[in-house]
Amino acid sequence: MHKKMLIIKHDTETETGLAKVYRNKGWLVEAVSSISKAREFLSNGNGSPHVILANLGLSDGKILDHLEELQNDIPFSEWIFIVENADREDLNKVDDLAYDFLEKPFDQKRLDNLVARAFRAARCNQQLEHYSSLSRKQYHLDAYLGSSEPVQELKSMLKELANVDISTMIINGETGTGKGLIARILHHTSDLRKDGPLVEMNCAGLPKELMESEMFGHEAGAFTGAKSRHRGYMEQADGGTLFMDEIGDMPMDLQAKLLKAIEDKKIRRLGGEREIDLDIQIIAASGIDLKEASKKNEFRHDLYHRLSVFCLSLPPLRNRKNDLLELVPNLIAEFNLQANKHVKVVPDETWKEFMNYDWPGNIRELRNVIERCVLLSKDEILPTRWVQLQEHCSPTSDNPKTQDACNVEGSVNIPLDGSMSLEEMDKYIIKTALDKNGFNVMETARSLGTTRETLRYRMQKYNIKSDKN
Ligand SMILES: Nc1ncnc2c1ncn2[C@@H]1O[C@H](COP(=O)(O)OP(=O)(O)OP(=O)(O)O)[C@@H](O)[C@H]1O
Ligand SMILES: [Mg+2]
Repeated sequence: MHKKMLIIKHDTETETGLAKVYRNKGWLVEAVSSISKAREFLSNGNGSPHVILANLGLSDGKILDHLEELQNDIPFSEWIFIVENADREDLNKVDDLAYDFLEKPFDQKRLDNLVARAFRAARCNQQLEHYSSLSRKQYHLDAYLGSSEPVQELKSMLKELANVDISTMIINGETGTGKGLIARILHHTSDLRKDGPLVEMNCAGLPKELMESEMFGHEAGAFTGAKSRHRGYMEQADGGTLFMDEIGDMPMDLQAKLLKAIEDKKIRRLGGEREIDLDIQIIAASGIDLKEASKKNEFRHDLYHRLSVFCLSLPPLRNRKNDLLELVPNLIAEFNLQANKHVKVVPDETWKEFMNYDWPGNIRELRNVIERCVLLSKDEILPTRWVQLQEHCSPTSDNPKTQDACNVEGSVNIPLDGSMSLEEMDKYIIKTALDKNGFNVMETARSLGTTRETLRYRMQKYNIKSDKN
């Protein structure tokens, strides 16, 4: 793939020099000298350049006056301006609309770095668009399987939400009930948001120190290690949706900053002076009950009320077991196709087992079971021996027998057959170690070779509490 650059110049010498520099580096470069020529080039089916290097003032006008219109036609190009004696108003506009700018005279190496970063950003935007057009096909309303009463109700709400712009909402539900799936469906079916980006951020997966700069972005030099400007998740989601998964794990001080950003519809990058306007929809998901958490002061009340403009509660599978009749054949068909298998029959005893089981891991657990069975199938019958519902060392299992069977003194036995995700294993190890140490956090941290703080964070993340409380 060629890296493509458009140079819109007014001063032939320097910029022709630049065209040469970048051609020598392997770029396909086109250089024009006016806005009208740039427009002509862009409308002639030459495709979007990755990077556009431009001056502000050109022979036929100020490019800033035409920038938004030009950007509509080439949304994935990143603009870098080379400016000279620009006034503050123009620089603010450049800052708003362009990738970045350099003031003359500039160091070629700085421009090279900037161009390299702008290229990566442009490629990333292009790919995002590619994947979101695939996702639009994948995440339609019917992707959420089921036709039981709670699911019908949920789907009719989703339909109504598709043409209402709700700025914030919460999706609640046990693990594996489809919070991530619903967030994607909400974005991709929303009339107002689907053409914008969907940015996903997992609040449990980010270290506290990083979370703020990942959310709000930062300017170069904002802190040690901040080498260049970084657009945070909120800014990346502008015009679209920010999915904040496991929001219950967000530290309190950041919750306050998030609330302010939602209310002001503005953010400021770390180390930045200017406020940036934002138009985003926030979908927050949580496996813990945020209302309860806010009552216990573990989550900010004000943020909870701001987010809960709309709440969707996803039903656990055990409350809609009839949906298994739709889920099981669909999942078998999916894994048949994936693994080139031909399972067609689910034996009666397996159906009985499925119907009698509580499915603590919900649809994720069901998917894992079906995947394992289909992969290990030898004919058209779903192999009963691989169902193994009761044999799992489920971290949510309260059955002490199951747990004892899995544990040899001082060790933890975990199935490596794909039935547990890495996160479930992590939770299970922590819960088992806490049980063994009578929920003494200091002792448990020592036995796991970690700190008390990390252990507390994880306990909070997985909502592990002592049974004695
Ligand atoms: N109703 C459904 N129909 C089809 N697939 C579903 C449904 N609900 C969930 N899934 C699938 O089950 C898996 C788990 O769902 P998802 O990751 O959205 O759950 P979650 O609620 O976000 O879980 P966690 O709290 O653990 O993050 C995904 O592969 C998802 O596509
Ligand atoms: Mg999830």
